[in-house]
Order: sequence, then structure tokens, then C-alpha cells
Amino acid sequence: MSVLVTGGAGYIGSHTVAELVAHGEDVVVIDNLRQGHRAAVRDVPLYEVDIRDTEQVGRILRDHKVDTVVHFAANSLVGESVEKPLQYYENNVAATAKLLSAMVDNGVLNIVFSSTAAVYGEPVRTPIHEEDPTVPTNPYGETKLAIERMFRWCHQAYGLKSISLRYFNAAGAHPTLPIGEDHNPETHLIPIVLQAALGQRPHVSIFGNDYPTPDGTCIRDYVHVMDLASAHRLSVNRLRTGGGVEAFNLGSGTGFSVQQVIDVAREVTGRDILAVHSPRRPGDPAVLVASSDKAKQVLGWKPQYDDLSTIVASAWAWHQSHPNGYED
Ligand code: UFG
Repeated sequence: MSVLVTGGAGYIGSHTVAELVAHGEDVVVIDNLRQGHRAAVRDVPLYEVDIRDTEQVGRILRDHKVDTVVHFAANSLVGESVEKPLQYYENNVAATAKLLSAMVDNGVLNIVFSSTAAVYGEPVRTPIHEEDPTVPTNPYGETKLAIERMFRWCHQAYGLKSISLRYFNAAGAHPTLPIGEDHNPETHLIPIVLQAALGQRPHVSIFGNDYPTPDGTCIRDYVHVMDLASAHRLSVNRLRTGGGVEAFNLGSGTGFSVQQVIDVAREVTGRDILAVHSPRRPGDPAVLVASSDKAKQVLGWKPQYDDLSTIVASAWAWHQSHPNGYED
């Protein structure tokens, strides 16, 4: 019995692979390596295969006696999705439909899915609960929601069981292994702030300082990548013993503003980080904070890193030791 991780060479995927391996799981990774990094996958088989290749995926499911798939492979940039919506429908929705066909054809009926806070769009309350309205404001969130909905129909038709994990802002790096965040282009706040601390960028742009928040900058809920990884492991276990069609928020439950993140990064790094005010980034909600009570109650999830300094320090250790990411 083993777990197939799609997109296991990516940021959250590689940390989840490490977590599963540390808990004694047999893991196999498929990744087309368009965004993933070969060096991020350690000690487990890595097949350079696209999830659309049903023949190869089917063979891997059979050869490795896979009973559960953890599905990360996707395009995941909000801005890019607005410019190239059809690419997102193709690479996220259509490609996942192919993956599910291979699974159903081979009797693999458990999937843990990498979803996102972007399925909610502009929140109607803070913190956000799973039953709140899902009205995505960009194609990225729309395609992730379409996949969550596909699971419901596949449950009815084929008995496919799924857990969709709606992440808020993933951050941090593995505490002991040399894996961390390495996107090209990098668009996320914490790595950008740390690249500025390293002198790789002249400054950080603060996108908007006129939001209805205490300091005028956007508030987000930062959650450590290892805590996300443990939630995937718990979800695999849940699907093996029960489950149905479920979705869970994953966040720390505490919001921090862009200005607070920069202040914490200045403290943690001891470096000057120049911040300049820029216009708002289109589509950014003012405040996104999760209620993760459901994950704690149902999955027994216990986040270990609930403090922003620890999260930033963990990311800083990775960026300092790997200033050029996996190229180092
Ligand atoms: N920000 C800046 N300057 C930057 C980069 C980001 O001010 O250079 C701000 C953003 O405007 C935002 C906050 O920092 O207010 C966090 O931005 P990120 O790009 O790091 O993350 P997002 O909150 O935009 O995105 C996250 C996930 C997405 C998910 C989205 C849900 O990374 O996958 O939440 O809205 F879709």
C-alpha cells in the first residue's frame, strides 16, 4: 500500500512527501517538473510524468499498489490565472479529470486535494468557515472550486472519497531537510521580503496602504508548510478508515498585516528591509483569516508553528542557506 503524490517536487508537495516518509509511508511522486524541482524529492521514486498521461499514471498506481493519491500538481498563480484562464482550466480542471479517470479505472478511490482560500473570494465574515459562500474572484480559485465540485459527482458515481484542504498563506521551510520555497517568478510576500533582506531585491513593494485594516495594509493568515504537511498525512489516514466528501480550512487563525510581516522579518533577520508603498494589487481582499476548528476537531490537526516569528525564522534559514533556491 503506498501513497502517490502528484506535484511532489513542488513547495507544499515536497514537504508533504517528507512528512509521509517520516511517518513510515511508502511514497511515490509524479511531477512533470515544469515548476517542481528534482532536488526537492528525496529518498522516494520520482517519475517525470504528467497527470494527463493516464496510461503511465495507471501503470504507476498498479506497480506501487497505491491506495491514496495526494494531489498537488496544478498551476497556482492568481495573477497568471486572470491573464490565462484557459490554461488554468486545462492544467487544473481537465488534467485532474484525467487523473481521476486513471484512479477510478484502477480502483484507487481516495484523494487528498490541494485546494485554496481563493475558493471563497471576498469573505463575508472573519474568520472564514468552510460553509461560507464560495464565490471565487479569479480563475485560479474557480478552477480549484470546480475540482472540489467534481469530487462530489465522482463520489456519487464511483464512490471516490476526497478531502479538499483549503490553505491560507503557506510559508516556512522544513526544519531539518534542505527543502523550502523556490518559485520562479516569486510572487509571495514572505520570500520576497527575505530576498530583500538578502540584498537580492532593492526593496519590498507594499501593495496598498489604504485598506480598512488597523495599519491600512492587507491581513493574511500565515500557516507553516510543515503544519500543512501534517494535515495531509492526517487526511490520508482519515480516508483509509472512512470519510466521504469533505473540505477543511488550514490556517493559523491569526491574521498579520503586510506591514507586520515586514517588521517581524526585520527583527528575525536583523537586516534593513526597505519597504515602498505601491498601488493595490487587483483582486486582493483586505482580510483573509481562517477558522481551522473543523480540521482540529475532525482530523485531529494540531499546528505546531503558530507564531509568525517562528514561521519567518524557518523561511529565513532556508533562504540564507539556499539564496538561489535549488540551484545552490
Ligand atoms: N504583497 C505585497 N507585496 C508583495 C507581495 C505580496 O504587499 O510583493 C501582499 C499582497 O498584496 C497580499 C499579501 O502580501 O496582501 C500576501 O500576498 P501573497 O502573494 O503572498 O499571498 P496571497 O494572499 O495573495 O495568496 C495566497 C495564496 C494563493 C491563494 C490566495 C487566496 O498564495 O495561492 O492566498 O486569496 F490563492
